[in-house]
Amino acid sequence: MSFQIAIDGPAGAGKSTVAKLAASALGFLYVDTGAMYRAAALFLEERGTDMDDTAAMERDVQEASISLRLMDDGQHIFLDGEDVTGRIRTEKMGMLASRVSACAGVRKYLVRLQQEIAAEQDVVMDGRDIGTVVLPQAPLKIYLTASVEARAERRLLELREKGENPDPEKVRMDIEQRDYQDTHRKESPLRQAEDAVYLDTSDCTAEEAAQRILELYRERANGSI
Ligand code: DC
Repeated sequence: MSFQIAIDGPAGAGKSTVAKLAASALGFLYVDTGAMYRAAALFLEERGTDMDDTAAMERDVQEASISLRLMDDGQHIFLDGEDVTGRIRTEKMGMLASRVSACAGVRKYLVRLQQEIAAEQDVVMDGRDIGTVVLPQAPLKIYLTASVEARAERRLLELREKGENPDPEKVRMDIEQRDYQDTHRKESPLRQAEDAVYLDTSDCTAEEAAQRILELYRERANGSI
């Protein structure tokens, strides 16, 4: 039986950094489900699918072949054999992914793919609905969050490191808009699973948060909770 650690939370809470650290310490596969929604959004955009037509989105996404591969420099995501890891990491693709992810048919397709991956190996999987929908039986669930201020600050730093000169107010508004979209959509909105551990990273480092997850894992794996 594989072990699953489900990590959910809003955009910019540090989920992927923390999940990667925990996965590499445990030797588990890290599965970035946000990257899968981004790749699906890229696929539909390139195909010219009408993003207001949910039936067309559901039909077309079935043709997207999305896979994850662990490479020397980390995890890469492939769309129809092409490495799209870099191309999906833009604000635009984040927004588009948020839109595409509101479509039930797209979710159904990706959720099944995610469940298949988790059935075969130990995983740390992060997203919005992992503890609630994708892996409701996961033995360890974390709800990772941080204040809007802390998340906006981190996003600003990230963009500046990339050589961009972002408008702080716009970055903050984008985060608030994504939060609103992700928590108010009809299909699998972002919410904390009842049995998830709440972890606020506003005042702690990614290493500290990952450490806490490893402690929780040891407690659960030993059956002491
Ligand atoms: O985590 P991210 O920013 O890469 O995710 C991009 C979008 O995909 C996010 O706005 C919401 C959506 N998403 C989702 O609905 N369910 C998931 N499990 C992961 C991401």
